[in-house]
Amino acid sequence: MKTFAWILPLALLFVVVIGAQAPPQASPNRPAWAFLVPDKEQPPSEESTGPIRVPGSAKTYTAKQIDDLANPPDWFPDEHGPLPKVVQGGLGPSMLACGACHLMSGEGHPESAGLTGMPVEYLVRQMADFKNGTRIDPARMNAISKLISDEDARKAAEFFAALKPGTWVKVVESTNVPKSFVSARGRMRLPLPGGGMEPLGNRIVELPEDAARAESRDPKSPFIAYVPMGSVKKGEQLVMTGGSGRAMYRGWRGFIRCTSRASSTDFRPASTPGPPPRS
Ligand code: HEC
Repeated sequence: MKTFAWILPLALLFVVVIGAQAPPQASPNRPAWAFLVPDKEQPPSEESTGPIRVPGSAKTYTAKQIDDLANPPDWFPDEHGPLPKVVQGGLGPSMLACGACHLMSGEGHPESAGLTGMPVEYLVRQMADFKNGTRIDPARMNAISKLISDEDARKAAEFFAALKPGTWVKVVESTNVPKSFVSARGRMRLPLPGGGMEPLGNRIVELPEDAARAESRDPKSPFIAYVPMGSVKKGEQLVMTGGSGRAMYRGWRGFIRCTSRASSTDFRPASTPGPPPRS
């Protein structure tokens, strides 16, 4: 098994690009491994009621507080600048805070997206496209973008763009992967307790290194992306030699990300163009 800490976008490029046109439901065009549809059968879990801690933070939150998307945890308040209100939350129960899903670090989870270090204009444009319906994410971003003003969208974009990305997703080429399920709580893919291993097949399976910490929205709890053997090389070839115009475009995005930062994000459909090179 070879590991690549920096090259996930390349690995993802050879995967079929699928448009996001429908609410989250598994179908041949929307495979559950890519779109994170909660499994019907959930393993038994006990909701914790006591205080939860994450390593290195002096703060504590209950599980209920952690799952309050309008008022999410900020585990390391000293490690980022002043939070715009839309990122931080506390604006009422219907105004979901950007920091809940994208984390206060902006790195996000596989079921959302990484915003850290992306160009301000790119982020602003995505918000505008979600708002006017050019880009479709009926589960989350279409509604969220409609609720916030263009001014607040820009403030959030400026905040996330200024953050420094870390190493967040480690890519592991592999033939087998821990068995997993998509949790109904937060749509996160988690290892199935006591589930053993299964063939990876032609999937990318992204799992938290530490499920409990990731579920606590710990911005220092990274992910492993298990990818089929040879994916990194295939992705690299696609970026370097091109494919269809669209693949080339995604290629540029991946290329920009992996050359300009030691981090990466999950696979997600690009229904609107990404940033031009070096913007
Ligand atoms: C409840 C969870 C949730 C919250 C809260 C949330 N987002 Fe998102 N966000 C998502 C998901 C899921 C996606 C992936 C959508 C897709 O590509 O289909 C996403 C994608 C995005 C993208 C596109 C990123 C890219 O690489 O193209 C931007 C920009 C974004 N969100 C900004 C924001 C901002 C700004 C806020 C706060 C006002 C916010 N989000 C709040 C879940 C959330």
